[in-house]
Amino acid sequence: MKVIPQTSSQVEVVSTASDAAIEVRSLHKSFGALEVLKGIEFHVDPGEVVCVIGPSGSGKSTLLRCINLLETPTRGKIWVSGQDVTDPDVDIDAVRRSIGMVFQQFNLFPHLSVLENLTIAQRRVLRRSRSEADAVARANLERVGLADKMTAYPAQLSGGQAQRAAIARSLSMGPDLMLFDEPTSALDPELVGDVLEVMRGLAAEGMTMMVVTHEMSFAREVADRVVFMDDGIIVEEGRPEAVLGAPQHPRTRDFLARVLNPGHRAPPLASDPTIA
Ligand SMILES: Nc1ncnc2c1ncn2[C@@H]1O[C@H](COP(=O)(O)OP(=O)(O)OP(=O)(O)O)[C@@H](O)[C@H]1O
Ligand SMILES: [Mg+2]
Repeated sequence: MKVIPQTSSQVEVVSTASDAAIEVRSLHKSFGALEVLKGIEFHVDPGEVVCVIGPSGSGKSTLLRCINLLETPTRGKIWVSGQDVTDPDVDIDAVRRSIGMVFQQFNLFPHLSVLENLTIAQRRVLRRSRSEADAVARANLERVGLADKMTAYPAQLSGGQAQRAAIARSLSMGPDLMLFDEPTSALDPELVGDVLEVMRGLAAEGMTMMVVTHEMSFAREVADRVVFMDDGIIVEEGRPEAVLGAPQHPRTRDFLARVLNPGHRAPPLASDPTIA
């Protein structure tokens, strides 16, 4: 496990891409005077599942949104599948097409059936024929266990079904990697399991995934690596059993104590070598 001392002053901009699925160097993002990302160094390898955890407001969503260019970084570089997406000349639409994004809110079109929700972007953006788009959509609905909901409208789905439809919609675009931003946070507890099951399946198939989540048991079981963010930096990262089971940094310990045991705070460890 690495405890990563990150300060904006020590960050070095690397000008070459690597084999990583996602490579983030020296990423800063400010909204006006508010600096939200303060020099993020981060990568995801092809086929890797990385779970990002951290307190509310620590910049997790902003990091995801910078990776698929929903936000423009203030400073720093990001490569996706070797392509510099922070290059001003980049084809933003092509980058976004290669990245599946699943949000807390499902953003399905309410006036379209599930099948139409899955085919509209395939036809308009990827220029697939109706029959080809339908075939891809059906296969992906099958994959998420919703083959019987093809003709339903979003209002007729449970939250868990709607989220699985949203995942199937993303998959139908054939993404190289998938970003998930708290995909189960809006769901009733009994609906969370089905969505996590679909994500588990994707991970097992080798999909590259970056998942912002509060589901610690999912992170522990599925993630290859867990990244803990706090106040715009990555504080600690490593194998899930290390970060979640034996966190090195007091901020990680404090966060996990609050998440796993709400209402209690972790006692400080006087012998902690990472306390400056
Ligand atoms: N478009 C924006 N304009 C101004 N401030 C923003 C914007 N987007 C995010 N912020 C601020 O940036 C900070 C980080 O927000 P972000 O959504 O990335 O946090 P988060 O870690 O995803 O939190 P949560 O766990 O609550 O989703 C917050 O203080 C937020 O208010
Ligand atoms: Mg967020």
